[in-house]
Amino acid sequence: MQAPTLTFLGHAGFLMTDGTHTLAVDPFLTGNPVAKHSPEDIACSHIALTHGHEDHFGDTIPIAKANNATVIAAYEICNYCSEQGVEAVDPGNPGGAVEAPFGSITFTQAFHSSSYQGKYMGQPCGLIIRIGGKTIYHCGDTALFSDMKLLGELFRPDIALIPAGDRFTMGPEHAAKAAELIQAPIAVPIHHGTWPPIAVDLSAFKPAGIEVRHMAAGDTLTLD
Ligand code: NI
Ligand code: MN
Repeated sequence: MQAPTLTFLGHAGFLMTDGTHTLAVDPFLTGNPVAKHSPEDIACSHIALTHGHEDHFGDTIPIAKANNATVIAAYEICNYCSEQGVEAVDPGNPGGAVEAPFGSITFTQAFHSSSYQGKYMGQPCGLIIRIGGKTIYHCGDTALFSDMKLLGELFRPDIALIPAGDRFTMGPEHAAKAAELIQAPIAVPIHHGTWPPIAVDLSAFKPAGIEVRHMAAGDTLTLD
């Protein structure tokens, strides 16, 4: 097992690997103006989704089919993927965890909505991802909520990926408060700058006592 790496795919997408298994999270590449990867570039064994919105579901179907990857997501999203011909799905819902060869994924609550092409896609989620011996909290799309403190205490994440672009999620000030509640030593602002409506001044994203790492699409961070 090697120290896991996280490659930012832009917007809210990541590619995470422990050197053996690779997990794509919210692989929105086609139509993503900041993406440096195309769907064909993605080699993965698993895909995890926070919710069904187009800017997260993205290229899930073609990537899953091309890689024979297992889709880990809310029950309704998994049903949709199965209908679309994805062979392997592993459904869950907030509060539950699924085991995976790289570790596990726990679904947490997120205050948001979740649909795809007009179809209800279940509860929006955050994801607590255990991979390569580290713990990553991808908050999904969400408003600030005080139970982020509880999630931080329960899971002790090594890094938090926090939406900060405002309008559809928290803005920079609330995202900073989220980082302080979660208490992961590193926080990465995501879901900002992809398009003008979520292009924000991130100078207010200054959580006290937390290291902020700014990632651009294509950047890779090693958690060691
Ligand atoms: Ni969304
Ligand atoms: Mn979104």
